[in-house]
Amino acid sequence: MASQMPVDAAALRRRCAEEMDSASRGFGNAAWLKDVFLSVPREHFVPARVWWPSPRADGLHSLIDQAERPNAWLKAVYSTGAPLITQLDDGRVPPAGPAKGHFSSSISSSGVIIELLRHLAPRTGDRVLELGTGTGYTTALLATRTGPGTVVSMEVDPGIAAQARRNLDGLGLDPLVITGDGEQGNPAAGPYDRIVATASVRRIPRAWLEQLRPGGVLLAPLDSPFGCDLLVRLTGAGGTAARGHFVAKVEFMRFRGQRTPRPYAELGWPETASVERWQELQVEAGPRGQQILDPSPPRVAHTERRPAPR
Ligand SMILES: C[S@@+](CC[C@H](N)C(=O)[O-])C[C@H]1O[C@@H](n2cnc3c(N)ncnc32)[C@H](O)[C@@H]1O
Repeated sequence: MASQMPVDAAALRRRCAEEMDSASRGFGNAAWLKDVFLSVPREHFVPARVWWPSPRADGLHSLIDQAERPNAWLKAVYSTGAPLITQLDDGRVPPAGPAKGHFSSSISSSGVIIELLRHLAPRTGDRVLELGTGTGYTTALLATRTGPGTVVSMEVDPGIAAQARRNLDGLGLDPLVITGDGEQGNPAAGPYDRIVATASVRRIPRAWLEQLRPGGVLLAPLDSPFGCDLLVRLTGAGGTAARGHFVAKVEFMRFRGQRTPRPYAELGWPETASVERWQELQVEAGPRGQQILDPSPPRVAHTERRPAPR
C-alpha cells in the first residue's frame, strides 16, 4: 500500500456507499451493513497492481499500477460495480503489464459483496464459514460484523491465503484463514450459523450442508442454464438437508474443482426452467444431491389435431 494517498480514500468510500444506497438494492434496511462497509478500508486489501475486468479493444486487460497512477488505482478500488482482477491463470501470468487470461482471483466488487452480505444477514456472535478468501476483504467485513473468534475462511491458493492473513492481521482482525479446498469446508470449527461462498459452484458440496446448523443460512453463487450464476439462499433443515430459492443474478469465478461443465439435467435442473421465471424456482439440497424445482411449469398447449374420422 502506498503510504501517501493522493486522493482521500475515506471520502471515496463514503461516495461509494452513497451510490450503493441510492441503487435499487444497495444496503436495503441493513444499517449495520453500511456501518461495516464504512469502517473497513477496502484499499488496504487491494494489491498495488490489478487488472481491470473489461478488456480493451485488443482483448487485453489494462494493468492499474498504484505506483504509476495512484488516483486511478484508488478510484478503481472504490468503483461500485467492478471487481479488480488480482490473479490470471492461477498465477501463471505475472502482473507486469496488460494481459489476458482466465480470471482466477479478484477482489469482488463492492456492489456484489454488499448484495451477498445483505442476503446472508450475519448477526453478532454468529459462527461463519467463508469459502474463497481472495484478498480477505469480505472476510474483514464479516468479522467486523460477527466479532472476534467467529470467522473461518478457506482459500485454495497458498500465496493468496498468506497475503489475506497479512491483510487481516494489519487491521487487527482475527479470522482463521485456512489454506485448502473450500469444497470440503472445515468441520472442526462447525457447525456454522452462516456459510458463504465467493466463488461459484455447479453443485452445492455435501460438506457445506453437513456443516450448516439447522436454521442457519447458506449463500452461494450457483451456475445456471441462463448464462449467469444465480445466488442461492438456503436454510438448513437439519440432517444434511437445506431448502431455499434464488435471490439475485450474479457473476463469479468458479471454484477450481467446478470448472468443467456438466449437463444441467445431471445437476438437478428441470427442462422447464426459464430465465423469465428464475425468482419462482425453488431449490432443495440434501444427501441425494440438489434439485431445482419449478413450481409452475408452463402448460404446453396441445395443438396437434387429428383429422376428423370419415
Ligand atoms: C472471487 S475470489 C474471492 C474474492 C473475495 N471475496 C474478496 O473480496 O477478496 C474467489 C476466490 O476463490 C478461490 N478459490 C477457488 N477455488 C477454491 C477452492 N476450491 N477452495 C477455496 N478457495 C477457492 C480463488 O483462489 C479466489 O481467490
